[in-house]
Order: sequence, then structure tokens, then C-alpha cells
Amino acid sequence: MKPLTALLLCALAALAQPPQARIKIDTERTIGQVHPHLFGNFAEHLGRCIYGGIYEENSPLSDDKGYRKDVIEATKNLGVSLLRWPGGNFASGYNWKDGIGPKDQRPARPDHAWGDIDSNRFGTDEFLQYCERIGVEPYICINAGYGTVNEAREWVEYTNEARHTYWADQRRRNGRDQPYNVKIWGLGNEIDGPWQLGHKNAEDYSKFALEAAKAMRRVDHSIQLIASGSSNFGPNADWIAWNRAVLQNLRTEIDYISLHTYIGNRENNFENFLAASQDLDSRIEVTAGLIRAAQSGLRNPRPISIAYDEWNVWYRARSSGGEFATGATRLEEIYNFEDALAMGMFFNSFFRHAGVVKMANLAQLVNVIAPIFTNKQGLFLQPIYFPIAEYGKQRGNTAIDALVTSPTYTPAGRRPLGYLDVSVTHNPRDKAIYVNVLNRSEKLDIATRIDNVEGALDPSVAVWEMNYPDLKATHTFGGDNKVRPRTSSLTAKLERNGFTYTFPKHSLTILKLAAR
Ligand code: AHR
Repeated sequence: MKPLTALLLCALAALAQPPQARIKIDTERTIGQVHPHLFGNFAEHLGRCIYGGIYEENSPLSDDKGYRKDVIEATKNLGVSLLRWPGGNFASGYNWKDGIGPKDQRPARPDHAWGDIDSNRFGTDEFLQYCERIGVEPYICINAGYGTVNEAREWVEYTNEARHTYWADQRRRNGRDQPYNVKIWGLGNEIDGPWQLGHKNAEDYSKFALEAAKAMRRVDHSIQLIASGSSNFGPNADWIAWNRAVLQNLRTEIDYISLHTYIGNRENNFENFLAASQDLDSRIEVTAGLIRAAQSGLRNPRPISIAYDEWNVWYRARSSGGEFATGATRLEEIYNFEDALAMGMFFNSFFRHAGVVKMANLAQLVNVIAPIFTNKQGLFLQPIYFPIAEYGKQRGNTAIDALVTSPTYTPAGRRPLGYLDVSVTHNPRDKAIYVNVLNRSEKLDIATRIDNVEGALDPSVAVWEMNYPDLKATHTFGGDNKVRPRTSSLTAKLERNGFTYTFPKHSLTILKLAAR
């Protein structure tokens, strides 16, 4: 063959090269509902999350109750559906009775989880009225560390009892006649962790949790309970054994088992950092299997879901001496653009497992490993804020099991995985299909064929994209416009009910399609 002809053939072949990746969508292949509680959040008595974050008495930025109005607005725009409180590790040393009644008479107590002093000026009534004010569902985590079963029972009585009992009348004396009807209760926090106050082994925890469940349900049988699953994924910890035992022992009482995961880019390797979806997927799938194992043999087992009730990027703002020993660090992570991409990775994993993951709580809401960051004069929104708010718009949709193929890579010490991390959801009411794509390649733009099976695609596509040349770009006070999403629309060149779209390197994209 003559060299010129060969060159021409090569050029033609390159032009005709098929896209490198494929996303095939069939809206009949449903996984489950994207539960609104996947957009939960978490407020712990830790550093400046509550005091100086949510709540700042005598601040010109606060309302007459002491709630920061600017934080309320940012929380609403974030789309928070559910708020977990009072901890975290803090919960395991907390006595809720310290936080009710006239504020000036409440005792200041040392917090032995984080080494701080809590004034107790923010307590149960302040939390529950805050939830009402911002329109979110409250989720209270009991003290399964140093606390007692009876304290947990009385807490439910204080919040939910309608009749004239001692604790319901205490609530009335504190200004609240109607019960709050708190539906979601956690049976402790990270009790498997040796750092936890009142740490227990699985058998002792199960005994405590069984009794607590019984006692709390005698006050209000309608409450939903979350067992403390393992969050201890270190090399010497047997998280599977803990979850297996707890599920087996509590399977007739609980509605959820919790999982916690924090990730970090400690090696400063972008692609490795965003490979953590392998851990998320695996922890969810293993726990889902353990749920099934615990239910096997039961004819009508109680449904149990996963509550991923702590998740985020957290690795810079950790104390140097003893992670959980002191209050020296206040966990004030300053988030950058690559952390924002990680938000998409977490949600993609939750959506792909929407049949079993029915709750997720970003840890946390304000200042402490949080998307909202305040000082006494105002606040700024961290880059992680924007994907969380955008994914939240898919609540109530149906998650779809899409077929995804993409170029792969092999991060150090891991199995190979695709550069594209994808989830798809469908809203049958307005026939919208959301294609959520994280391109975790640092260098490759990836041309992707998107095929749709059910319904004819409309050529109009709405594009939401988060991308920025500097992976480490951060925000600050008065400067939070840099790393923000861009929106656009395009008319797709449809061909056989599909089209090709190129996902740029290191980007998070949500394509909104319509199929009729
Ligand atoms: O969110 C910070 C801490 O992380 C929580 O208190 C604890 O539950 C987890 O280890």
C-alpha cells in the first residue's frame, strides 16, 4: 500500500473511532427510590458546629432565638432533609437532661469526647425547634456509651409523649405543649470503636440496644431505630463480624444499620483518591449481604436498610496527638475542588444502591468538616456545597441500573476500575432522566455514547458541570464564586435514540435528558 493511502486510511479510522465509553439507560431496570433522607446532614456539639455555627446568641446575624439566619438560608438552599444530633462521639457522654429548662440554670459540663466544655445552652428544645424552623426531619442519637436505657426511654417521653406524664409535663413547663414526634432515633454512635466513650463489644452492645429499643418503643411504638454499625475499617478491626452480630441480635427491632466513611487524599494522588468508590460500594454490598443473611429463614423479616449517617472527606483537620483525645483540632477542613468531585462519587454510590441505602448524612453542617463556613461577620460556601445541593434535586426519583463501560485504570493497591463513575435516576412524572457522571481521569476527556432504551430521547439536554483547572482551588470569606458549577443547554445530535457526549477530565457532570 502506498504511504499516502495508508495515512488516509488511518485518518479515516481515527475519525470513525467509536466513543471510548458507553452509558446504556433502560428506565425499566429500576434499583429503588432515591430516598429524600439521602440528603441528610449532621450537627454535633463539636468545635463551632453548634455554638458559632448554627447557634450564636446575641449576634446581629441571629434571630431572637439565637439561630444564625444566614446559616438557615444556606442550609435550606443546600436541600437538607434530615438532621442528626447531638453526635457523633459527643453523644456517648451526653446527658440530655442537662440541656433542658431555663438556659441560665443549665450546667456547663466537660465534653470528654472532644475535650471541650458544653454550656448546654443548645439542647433538645433548641434542636427540635431548629428542625421545625428549617423544615427538616430530626434524628436523635441516644447515649449508648455512658448513658442508660432509662435515660433513652425518658428522652422519647420528653419529645413524643402527648399525655400528662412527668417528662411530657417538663416539656410543657419548658414552653412546648405539643409533642415533637421525633420519628428517627439512633441506638448510639460508633460503639465498636475503642475511642468511643462507653465502647462495648458486639454482645454487650446488642444487649443494651435490645433493651433500649424495647423501652423506647414502649413510649412510642412508631419510632424507627438505627443500630450502630461498625465504622472501624482499619486493618486490625473486624467490621464484618460486628455488623453480622449486631444484625443477627437486633434483626427484629431495628430499621437501619449505620455505616460511616471518611476519605482523604493523603498521598496527593487525585485518581487514587477518587477510587474510594470501591470501598463505598463494597461496604454497602457486604452489609446488604449481612442484612439478608440475618433475615434468612424468617418468613416475614423486618425490612432493614443502611443509614450512611456519617460521610465526607476528612483528613487535613485532624489533631496531631491522639485523634479523638482532645479538642485541639476543631475539624475545620477547608475544602477544595477535588473534594467537591468526591461528593459526586459518594452520591453515585448511594444512588447505585438506592434499594438498600435509605439514609445518608453528610458530616457535618457548619464549620466542622462542613460545606458552610462562618465567622462572626458572615459565611462562605465551600466548593463541596454545590454538588450536594444539585444532587438533592433528584430526591424521590427512581435510581436506574445503567450499563456503563469506560476506559479503566489501576490505582496503587487496588483493583482496576473505570474512569467514569456513574449513576442514573429517572423521574417518571416529567419523563426526566438524570445522568450523573464523575470523570476521575486527571488527563483524559472521555467521549461517551449515551444510549436510551425506553422512550424517544428529546434532543434538548440540560448540562450542569463542575470543573476547574486547579484541583486544589478553595474558597474563603468574600471569595466563594471561583469553584462553582456552570449550567448550559445543548441540542444533541441524536442517532438511534442516543448521542455522544464528551466528559472533560476531572469533572462532575449532570445531564438532564427527557425521553417520551
Ligand atoms: O464527625 C466527626 C466524628 O467522626 C464523629 O463524632 C464520630 O462519630 C466520627 O468518628
